[in-house]
Amino acid sequence: MNYAAEAPLDEREERPVTHPVSYEVEDGIAVITIDNPPVNALGRAVRQGLCDAMDRLADDPQAQAALILGAGKLFIGGADISEFGKPPKDPWLPEVVQRIEDSPKPVVAAIQGAALGGGLEVALGAHYRVAMKGAKLGLPEVNLGIIPGAGGTQRTPRLIGVAAALDIIPAGGTVPAEQAVELGLADRLAEGDPREAGLAYARELVTAGAGTRPVGQMPCPDHDTVALEAARKTWSKKNRGEVARLASIDAVEAATRMPIAAGITEERRIFSEMMDTPQRAGLIHAFFIERKVFQLPELDGVAPREVSQLGVIGGGTMGAGIATAALLRGLDVTLIERDDAAAEKAAATISRNLEGAVKRGKLDGGTRDAILSDAFRTAADYGALARADLAIEAVFEDMDVKKQVFAELDRVMKPGAVLATNTSYLDVTEIAASVSRPSDVIGLHFFSPAHVMKLLEVVVPESTAPDVIATAFALAKRLGKTAVRAGVCDGFIGNRILSKYRAAADRMVLAGASPYQVDRAVKAFGWPMGPYEMGDLAGLDIGYATRQRRAATRDPRDIVPTWADALYHLGRHGQKTGRGYYIYEEGKRGGAEDPEVLELIDKARAEHGVTPRDFTDEEIQRRYMAALVNEAARVLEEGIARRPLDVDVTFLHGYGFPRWRGGPMFWADETGLPALLGDIEDYAREDDFFWQPAPLLKRLVSENSNFASLNG
Ligand code: 3HC
Ligand code: NAI
Repeated sequence: MNYAAEAPLDEREERPVTHPVSYEVEDGIAVITIDNPPVNALGRAVRQGLCDAMDRLADDPQAQAALILGAGKLFIGGADISEFGKPPKDPWLPEVVQRIEDSPKPVVAAIQGAALGGGLEVALGAHYRVAMKGAKLGLPEVNLGIIPGAGGTQRTPRLIGVAAALDIIPAGGTVPAEQAVELGLADRLAEGDPREAGLAYARELVTAGAGTRPVGQMPCPDHDTVALEAARKTWSKKNRGEVARLASIDAVEAATRMPIAAGITEERRIFSEMMDTPQRAGLIHAFFIERKVFQLPELDGVAPREVSQLGVIGGGTMGAGIATAALLRGLDVTLIERDDAAAEKAAATISRNLEGAVKRGKLDGGTRDAILSDAFRTAADYGALARADLAIEAVFEDMDVKKQVFAELDRVMKPGAVLATNTSYLDVTEIAASVSRPSDVIGLHFFSPAHVMKLLEVVVPESTAPDVIATAFALAKRLGKTAVRAGVCDGFIGNRILSKYRAAADRMVLAGASPYQVDRAVKAFGWPMGPYEMGDLAGLDIGYATRQRRAATRDPRDIVPTWADALYHLGRHGQKTGRGYYIYEEGKRGGAEDPEVLELIDKARAEHGVTPRDFTDEEIQRRYMAALVNEAARVLEEGIARRPLDVDVTFLHGYGFPRWRGGPMFWADETGLPALLGDIEDYAREDDFFWQPAPLLKRLVSENSNFASLNG
């Protein structure tokens, strides 16, 4: 029987709605199925449905036990995140889980696909759990800035101990079914149909006369001081500034000191506290935009082209990384290099990268060997790309060299193949115009290291065909990357904006801040690195080359960091030469500050007639971010980025912007656009060349609007 017959009325529309929880009895077992696509999230109707099902089970003479199932590919993906931040509606999830646990008849949960967050908490409310092979179980709440809020922090340590719970909860990680069984989080492992496996288990329990087994009634776990301290130490160090991970440890500790009811009340208190933090809002914004970034109206109904064979031209830093990423995801790769020595070097790098994947458990040795022997080859002759579906050029950043490569690709590649460039700054429209098939050309801007970094800027000249854009997005998904659509300009979305806030940092240094203070202040904001540490990592020769390239078109009012040029000429190219802004010593982590650098900066100040002044860390952060947001507003206005969320995703996935701040545009909205504009107008009073407020920012302030309103 299905609940549909006695479905509740939808409160707003006053019409019956199909109930997402069904109840039927099969051979003495009540089968309770949650069917709430796409992930069976525990929205209000599901919560109510589960409570109703529990009531019915208690009174149902036909049912001796119950089985909870998720319809579709997974058990339950968690609480309904879209309800967060809105007034909570009864019944609350902790009550639902308690109702399941309090059932007088045994309840089994059969977990396929995933039991995450509230999904695992529902399973922990059940008395027995069968995990299907391939399923993952976890409590990822901290990734959303909250903690498990339906007993997860209390029942998990009761079931598997404090140390094991602390391996899972503050990390927000998942464990595979096999490990879940080893830990005792699930009771048995099964293969095949979850309904059959769950029914078999339930029947077995009934036959054996097994009673209920409420996890909440298990004794308090031991107070494992060592594990608690270790977890606090680890998570204070990682994830600078994030509060939920540490708070989740407090909640687990509560389980060691309190009976279940009090522990759950304490968990709820911490959960509600986390729910009210701006970090929760930022992290949930990040969750939704990472998915929305793939939704482009221009691609509705556009089928991507088929890609299985990939060509990569140039096997240096980027080419080798791109080839690794593709090989790891099952693509066939042919890599073109200039000569055998370069090809061998590239192959060795790729082999090392794959070995790294084996060491991290992402790949087994046999698959690695098969990839290297069957799916990867190098060549010097472009003819080897005749069957490639898509080629990515990653040769030197030089327009003439790129055009020569594209002429070769145009000559050898089959009709319908996609021709892509990984250029960082060069004009993709010009590259496209240089071949006979500009509609097949697109920019695919990977970030270094390309097999690790998530971001892929898809750079689209006007000439590109829609199905080529769709192909780029499909490839990104296949490679496990997050794709952002960008228009053509110097630096696209990310690097163009980066060059502005880098310049703001240089202006602060010239005015009196030290590069070390700037780095510290920026890191205190939550960035993983400051601009000068970053410069040392990337190589100061790169910044120097960019300044040289732009010299001819530079506005005379622009400020050139002459101290950075001086560092370059001194051979201080950053980490790779042992010296840059910092001094790097073998065996020491990080670099040491260097008074010589400060002298070079003082010299530059004297040349510019600047009397240095003090900066507070807060002013540094505000100027840095104001420069970022102001340039982002221009990038949006010009259509280089279509939506503020595209900028947010670019910075979260390509530049290490602190995820809990949601992204720079989200941060700007939260900070308040009038305040930001006010700052920029203040700065403009001392420097009206650099600090021109972006028209879009002014318009949004005058309309009392925000960036979020442009996300669609
Ligand atoms: N609530 C609401 N919507 C959700 C959701 C959730 N918990 N999980 C996923 N969705 C939505 C996504 O936004 C997406 O919507 P869209 O199609 O409109 O973009 C759709 O479901 C499909 O999601 P994915 O594209 O991510 O699908 P996948 O199949 O790749 O992955 C998943 C499925 C592994 C479940 C993944 O979606 C995921 O990790 N979800 C979040 C899991 C999570 O964080 N759960 C904890 C929630 S907090 C909680 O439970 C609190 C409790 O302790 C009280
Ligand atoms: P690299 O110097 O490490 O590698 C370039 C490779 O191309 C070399 O191995 C070289 O032998 C090869 N090559 C040069 N001309 C060739 C030709 N005609 N045919 C075949 N191979 C040729 O350079 P890197 O850093 O890998 O950069 C490559 C491209 O990627 C550039 O356009 C760069 O702007 C871009 N890029 C670089 C990033 C980085 O962080 N290094 C990030 C994103 C993009």
